[in-house]
Formats: sequence, structure tokens, C-alpha cells
Amino acid sequence: MNISSANGSISDYVADGAIIGLFEDNKEFIQEIRTIDIKLDGLLQKLIEESEISGGFGEIREIHTFGRIKPERLIVIGLGSSQDFSTTKLRLLMAKVIRYCRTRHLENISSLIHSDCIEDLDIGKVAQALTEGLLLGLYQFDRYKKNIKELNDIKDFVITEVKKSNISAIDQGIKIGQITANSTNLCRDFINEPANVLTPTEFSSRITQNLKHPNIHIDILGLKEMQDLGMNAVLGVAKGSSQPPKLIIIDYRGCSDNDTNTITFIGKGITFDSGGISLKPALNMGDMKGDMSGAAAVICATKAIAELNISINLKTIVIATENMPGASAQKPGDIVISMSGKSIEIDNTDAEGRLILADAITYACTLGAQKIVDVATLTGAISIALGNVYAGIFGNDQSLIDKLINAGNNCGEKFWQLPLSSDYAKQNDSVVADIKNTGGKLAGAITAAEFLHAFAEDVSWAHLDIAGTARTRKNNFMQEGATGITVRTLIDFSSHL
Ligand code: BES
Ligand code: MN
Ligand code: ZN
Repeated sequence: MNISSANGSISDYVADGAIIGLFEDNKEFIQEIRTIDIKLDGLLQKLIEESEISGGFGEIREIHTFGRIKPERLIVIGLGSSQDFSTTKLRLLMAKVIRYCRTRHLENISSLIHSDCIEDLDIGKVAQALTEGLLLGLYQFDRYKKNIKELNDIKDFVITEVKKSNISAIDQGIKIGQITANSTNLCRDFINEPANVLTPTEFSSRITQNLKHPNIHIDILGLKEMQDLGMNAVLGVAKGSSQPPKLIIIDYRGCSDNDTNTITFIGKGITFDSGGISLKPALNMGDMKGDMSGAAAVICATKAIAELNISINLKTIVIATENMPGASAQKPGDIVISMSGKSIEIDNTDAEGRLILADAITYACTLGAQKIVDVATLTGAISIALGNVYAGIFGNDQSLIDKLINAGNNCGEKFWQLPLSSDYAKQNDSVVADIKNTGGKLAGAITAAEFLHAFAEDVSWAHLDIAGTARTRKNNFMQEGATGITVRTLIDFSSHL
């Protein structure tokens, strides 16, 4: 689908469908809609009076224009309350309406920008959110379905705007929206891909293929190099699998100054989490193909950050491995000496995420990391605490946490901070080693974060636990499956450093 802008009135623009929006509380038409209504002899006004159109959030009404204006149909969407209108709401709405247009086999669509009467919204940001909604809404993971329903491709989507002075901001917004949404959709592809295909080796080669950029350099280390680095916490997890683990380091240099705006992203890249010897129950175990969602998110955010030329220096570190119960798998009761030198008692082999992240954090520190953000589907406990609405955020640097939460708010991804405290850290105490990889039944998401904290120590660090939000079972804004959460947040965060 080609997305562009056009300077002029929507009523003069030829299209199969023209999307116009009405607020439920703002009965006075904006100029563009008044022009249309005059040409339609007051039809819109009548339909509103007869309660056929309410403007309620998410409402979609289709009206044929019978040649009165250039577009064949009007797709009237309800924008809801004008007080609560936001880019987040627009993103949801555009996803919904574009899926509607697809089922109606409309090929050429035009749309207003829908923010004319909302003064405090930046028009570029509105165009960005609109674009993201379209592309995120149209996403489908159907490459393994032979008889997919014949869905026509929408060819052209044009945002019409009467004010010429707004066009360049709209174009810029479209461009940022396309980069953001396309990398989010790539993230969703990685996550939705089954684990028999997306092994650690395949994951690393797809990363190389997808992140070709002049300012990006990628290193991929294998088993031997990880042994030499002493990453025994990773190797303990990897040894139950016949697939070799990979350590992927992506360097993006968008800034000539070495010391400022430098950040490290770390992602959990378990390409399949069976639980290992502490085997998971069968129900929904297939979802564990998505236990590399954190890795996919940091990688795809990195891709977008490079494409947007954001002026930061970024290192992205991902450890990719399976967690399997093979003949040489590690066992509960094992003790491993992590890269940091700290010994870890393996109480439960299913708490593997914190093990690989511990070595990743230590490795990042040896590379000189000053600020670390890790993203992981770390605990089932985070979904007990926050459900599938908010993701959890933890850390030792409040300003870093605040920046991430704000970035999330800017782009419609919700993060809720949970506490860290030495009182929780005590739950990870081991009788036989320096630390244990489980902290008991209570506060499981926090004790997991405290485990990571023990390896980050005083380096500025934030941890995002996306186990509850990385996939959705609803087929609404997003197709059921991976959401791509954190890609948008990390992009926005990076542009405000
Ligand atoms: N990958 C899981 C966490 C998870 C659960 C992600 C559900 C997505 C959906 C993680 O490796 C895990 O198994 N955590 C255990 C930790 C426990 C053994 C201390 C958990 O949450 O049960
Ligand atoms: Mn696990
Ligand atoms: Zn896991």
C-alpha cells in the first residue's frame, strides 16, 4: 500500500472510499465536512439527526455518494469524545477502519487527518499515528496458509489536506510512521515464526539480512566464543538443546560524540522455552515460540532507529538459545559460575531468562555500557500482577524509567513501574551459591528483576517485563499473535535522549 498526502479537498479526490471522522460531542462540521454535506444536500446532517451516525468511538458507517462528489463512498468513522481524542485512539481507529476497507475490497482510499479541531495535537504526530494504525492493522501472519481468504491489497491511501502549509509535516509523519510500523511488523514476524524455523542460527541470519545499513555493524558470536567469555549461565541453558546458541551484537553509530547519548539495549532471545528439565505443562506451550519477543523488539527498534537516523550511539545485545530438556540439559540443583564470577544455584531450569540476561548484562558492562535497557518475556508473574494491559518496568535509575514510561505514553504502549527492594532481593538468597535463580511464590516478577539487578549493580539500568503483553488473543487492533510491544517505545525513547 502506497501512503501519501495530497493538497486539496477530499471531495475533489477520486477514490473508492473517503474516510471522514465525526466526534460524538462536536456537532458542528469542520469546513471540509461541511463542503461535502452541502454537495450531498445535507444527507450527513440528516443521518446524524436520525441517529444513524453518532460519532461514537469506533463506529463505521458507509454512505454512497452517487457521483455528487469524486469519492464513490464516504466511510464515516466515529472519533468519540473530542476531549479524550489522542494519537493513541487514532491509531486504533485507523487499524479498525482499514481492515473494514479491506473486507469491502476498496482499493483506493482517501482520508482526512481527523485532528483539525484538536489544537494541542501536532499534525506530524497525527499523520504518524494514522500511518502506524493502517500498517499495524493490516498486518497478517499468513505465510503458512495455503488457502488464505482472497484479500485484495489496498493500493493507495492518500491523506488529503486543504492547508498547504501542513503538507510537509504530514509527509514527515507518514515517513516516520512507515518506518516505525514496518519494523514493528518485522518484530511480529520474528515472534510469530515457529521455533522449528526460527532457531538461534536462523534468527541471527535473518537479523543480518534485515539490518543492512551503513551505520550498523553486526557481530555474531557462537558457542566457542561464549565459552571463552565464560558465559556459563548462558551455556547452562543452551546445553539441553541440539541448536547452538548465538550472541548477537549490533552496533549503531548515529552520533560522532562517543560519550553522550550512548545506550545499550539487551533482549531475551529464547527461541523456544520448554522449561527444560523443569518442563512446562503442555497447555499453550506453543506460545513459548515467542519467548524471544524481547530480542525481536530491541533488534527491530534498532533497525528503525538507524533508518530514522536518530543521533545516538546504540549497542544492542541479544542472546539467542533454546531452553530444552535434552540429555545434557542442566538440572535443578546445578551450580554455574556466571561471567561475572557470581555463582548461581539453578533451582528451576524454567527460570532461564534471568540466567541468559545476567551474562548479557555482565558482557554489556565489559563493553563499557553506561545505560542499559533490557526487554524480556521474563515472568508469568507479571501477567498475574498487570494482566495483558500494562507491561512491567523496573530499574535503578528513576530518570531512565520515567523517560521510558513517557515514551510509552507517547506511542500507546503502557508500562507500570514496580518496586525493587533489598527485602525482595533476599528471596533470591541461596544456601549453596551466591544467588539462586528463583525467589519463591511471592512477587515473582520483582524477584526476577532483583536477580538482574544483582548483575547490573550500579550501572544505570531499566528492565521491561513484557511476558503479559507480547502476544494478544484478541483479533482487534492487532491480529491475534505477536503485538510487537516495545518497538515503538524504544524508538520514541531514543529520539528524546
Ligand atoms: N518465558 C517464561 C515466562 C513467560 C510466561 C512468558 C508466560 C510468556 C508467557 C519464563 O522463562 C518462565 O518460565 N518463568 C517462570 C519463572 C519461575 C520458574 C520462577 C514463570 O514465570 O513461571
Ligand atoms: Mn522459562
Ligand atoms: Zn522463558
